[in-house]
Amino acid sequence: MKALEGKVAVVTGGAGGIGTAICEALAESGAAVVVGYNRSKTQAESLAARLPQASLPHAALAAPVTDTAQIEALAVEIDQRYGRCDILVNCAGTTRFVAHENLAGLDDALIDTILTTNVRGAFAMLRALHPLMQRTGNALVINISSIAAATAMGSNVMYCASKAALDNLTKSLARALAPDIRVVSLSPGLVDTEFVKQIDQAWRDEQAAQTPLKRLAEPKEIGQAAVAIATSFPFTTGTIFSVDGGRPLK
Ligand SMILES: NC(=O)c1ccc[n+]([C@@H]2O[C@H](COP(=O)([O-])OP(=O)(O)OC[C@H]3O[C@@H](n4cnc5c(N)ncnc54)[C@H](OP(=O)(O)O)[C@@H]3O)[C@@H](O)[C@H]2O)c1
Repeated sequence: MKALEGKVAVVTGGAGGIGTAICEALAESGAAVVVGYNRSKTQAESLAARLPQASLPHAALAAPVTDTAQIEALAVEIDQRYGRCDILVNCAGTTRFVAHENLAGLDDALIDTILTTNVRGAFAMLRALHPLMQRTGNALVINISSIAAATAMGSNVMYCASKAALDNLTKSLARALAPDIRVVSLSPGLVDTEFVKQIDQAWRDEQAAQTPLKRLAEPKEIGQAAVAIATSFPFTTGTIFSVDGGRPLK
């Protein structure tokens, strides 16, 4: 029997670069995966269809994290389909490159989008799924954060602040929801997703050079870390797990 057989995992941003790798890793470990999507319905449906079969069926369901009514409806649907939710991975996130010294370039609309998606969205997903996860018992939330939370190096200053806020939520919610629900952050350094591959090669080489392990993370390494957290750390909550090649050491 696989380690996550019989468990139900909900992954927001499930069809994105890192989300896809997390969905694949969870399904390979036996979990039924709900691939949550916002705009990427087609990709989410095709991912759910090609994931390795688990004892419970996978699904692709709308999970627009800034729309509370829709995610409350999603929680009802998950309850009706599965009657349980063991793992929530808050992977949905958004950003745009704005140089840190360019204050005028970070307008209110972009700030609101970043904070509403990266911080309120993660909280709202847990708020919606909380009764179901509490009923399931021994449930786990993995917030996909970033080393930007601690290093304040990232695509823009509000993105860094949003991930710091997410890590803070991880700690206060870990305390508040114990012992039924554990809450952790998983903080990647730069991950070589399709989006990152499109960025200037010289910049990516520079980032790799400044990483002690001399490369960027592969998306599947974040998926593997999520499975490790879900299977091998039953006495851990409120922790920030880094998967960053040692980048903050430089
Ligand atoms: N790539 C990196 O180097 C890196 C490093 C550290 C942390 N992270 C974090 O990892 C997570 C995934 O990033 P990624 O690199 O895989 O980027 P990505 O491929 O652009 O994925 C972002 C995902 O977020 C979803 N999303 C955006 N707005 C949403 C909303 N309002 N409601 C629901 N979903 C929404 C998107 O869903 P749709 O496509 O369906 O709209 C997409 O699946 C993010 O939280 C990011 O901050 C990334």
